Amino acid sequence: MKPSTILLNLIDQDGAGQWPPLVVYDDWPSALQPYQDIYHEVVPQLSSSSPLLDDDTLMARRESFRSHMRELLKEQIDLLEVERLLNAAEAGNWMSLRREQLNGVYCAGQDDLKGSFAKAVGDGWATIPVVKVAQAETVIHFPVELDSAWASLQRHFGCVAESGNNTANVLYNFTPDGNRVFKINVGQSDEIVSSEEAFFRMFYDIEDLARIVYIDMVDAIVAFEENRKADSLRCLQQLKPKLDKIYQLFYDGVVDAKISRKVWLSYCQGFQGWGVGRVIDGRHVKYDGLSGSHALIFQAIDAFFGMERYLIDENMVRYIPVRQREFTSVLRRHSIRAQTEKGECEEIQAEISKLVQAMRVFRAAHRTRVILYLEQPAPERLIMTAGKSVLENHHTNGLEDALAPLKKMMTTRLQETV
Ligand code: HEM
Repeated sequence: MKPSTILLNLIDQDGAGQWPPLVVYDDWPSALQPYQDIYHEVVPQLSSSSPLLDDDTLMARRESFRSHMRELLKEQIDLLEVERLLNAAEAGNWMSLRREQLNGVYCAGQDDLKGSFAKAVGDGWATIPVVKVAQAETVIHFPVELDSAWASLQRHFGCVAESGNNTANVLYNFTPDGNRVFKINVGQSDEIVSSEEAFFRMFYDIEDLARIVYIDMVDAIVAFEENRKADSLRCLQQLKPKLDKIYQLFYDGVVDAKISRKVWLSYCQGFQGWGVGRVIDGRHVKYDGLSGSHALIFQAIDAFFGMERYLIDENMVRYIPVRQREFTSVLRRHSIRAQTEKGECEEIQAEISKLVQAMRVFRAAHRTRVILYLEQPAPERLIMTAGKSVLENHHTNGLEDALAPLKKMMTTRLQETV
């Protein structure tokens, strides 16, 4: 299929006709509404102003939170009706549940239901702040009202992980007028609340700027392949300022004044972690949580340059919705750089080199900035990052050593960006 067809398919199906995706939280079919209501009922119990450290108290809280949630789900969810609605959507029948509502259910399914049950509750990962006793849990048995709905949603979006991803948890968590629906730290200090807001909104704002970038990328490819080199060059020239704006959002946003280093690690990141899994055929399969590496735009940029993927195949299938994977694959297959020989189309090559250089600057800045956040002390937990789960074990020796693999990943990716 052509790059333009695949982009339109992504926007049409996963974006409900818009990008960033259209997500609607109103007028849900009554069988699905309790998923939202239950989240709003339990969310104030998720975050505590200081880490709870007594294991017995934590485990008791976990049990009480989970049994409360189990009861609410059992009382309020009509599973047969939920399955009927989700099956109809899966079969392409959007009469009772519209695409833009299903997008909201995907977010609710992860953030609201599984997220809070697994994590927030005062346990699983993402006790807020995360604590060691929470990180020790390796398997969680979810209530059927969560498991069954999530399985259907994952089939629709084409991801296999039990955990969520940047699309479900972040991109689909905004209404058309820009309100973030499922918040994590309800009732905490302004510093925590505003850091959480600024952090997640940045990913949404970046995807908002990315829409016209995707169009320019596709236009540049089409023009190049139709031998309209001057048009292709013009599209590439248009890309540079648009991409610079995206990087600028990161440079301006990941600063202490907007995303406080003091609170980010403890209050904003942990909820998006996962680190638990399931025993399948006698083997423990563990899923990770969210990472900036899930963001479509950065995958699209690498693919446009013809670079290999950052995420391994297994993680692509676990965390990246299939229609996003198809889009980046088609960009990679049609990469202009890969189609030009040395010494050929020099102006086009030079323009792409400028784009590559800007991405290198982003990666260098990202590596330097994020380490300052990851190095914050959090003695109540094992060293972890949401996207790669627990990093500390009996082979590691302190913070520096535990973070070394992350630094290596980021440095390698920077070096590959040429
Ligand atoms: C305090 C904030 C952040 C921290 C601590 C952080 C940390 C990390 C870490 C440790 C990795 C490597 C491990 C992995 O793949 O998950 C990573 C990868 C990545 N992050 Fe972040 N990140 C932060 C914010 C952001 C933001 C705001 C963006 C984009 C808007 C972003 C984009 C990426 C991308 C694209 C990658 C994949 C590696 C690459 O393509 O170079 N990160 N991040």
